[in-house]
Amino acid sequence: MVFEKDPTSLYQIYPTTVAVIGARYGDELNFMAAAWHTLLSFNPPIFGVSISPKRYTHDLLMKSGEFTASFLGHGHAELVEKLGRTSGSKINKVLEYGLELLEPRVVKVPGIGNAVAVYECRVLESRSYGDHTFFVGRIVGLHYDPRAFDEVGRPAYDPVLYLGKDVYVKIDRSRTIEFDPEKFRK
Ligand SMILES: Cc1cc2nc3c(=O)[nH]c(=O)nc-3n(C[C@H](O)[C@H](O)[C@H](O)COP(=O)(O)O)c2cc1C
Repeated sequence: MVFEKDPTSLYQIYPTTVAVIGARYGDELNFMAAAWHTLLSFNPPIFGVSISPKRYTHDLLMKSGEFTASFLGHGHAELVEKLGRTSGSKINKVLEYGLELLEPRVVKVPGIGNAVAVYECRVLESRSYGDHTFFVGRIVGLHYDPRAFDEVGRPAYDPVLYLGKDVYVKIDRSRTIEFDPEKFRK
């Protein structure tokens, strides 16, 4: 296996939802797409995201220590793709894409206005791993549209689900399998 030369041989993690990471330092506000993200802890709530130092967002985050993670519906896949294929070092994405912003409650970074959920995060730690930096953020604020989630908190909306290489897919709920955990409990 020659994965050093062929990054596509590491595409086993897809499909993943995409978080739109917002970062702000002073007047500079920017958003980028991130598929390499994860929850790290429920209590306290902690979220992590891996961002390359090549990203403009990386610079802003290093300086401000705060970010937002916005989760959008499949209908916004094109916006996510644009945010992931253009750089804030060259354009003002907020103006260029006419982004609607969500007013934050705790941090100074807004979320994306039409997101179904937004985490407001404060960086607890950032550490370099290979060619990315992993930012660990304590979730200090949470916004979500209750209509987008069912009574047990599962997403009832179609998330932006990334298959890799600029392709986005939709969940086929007609193929849902639900298990009764009691049946397997030992
Ligand atoms: C769907 C998608 C997912 C992405 N995931 C990540 C990621 O997890 N980490 C990362 O560093 N870059 C990721 N990127 C690339 C950045 O979003 C991209 O380089 C962006 O232009 C950076 O913007 P900025 O320079 O304004 O920060 C992704 C791109 C796309 C389209």
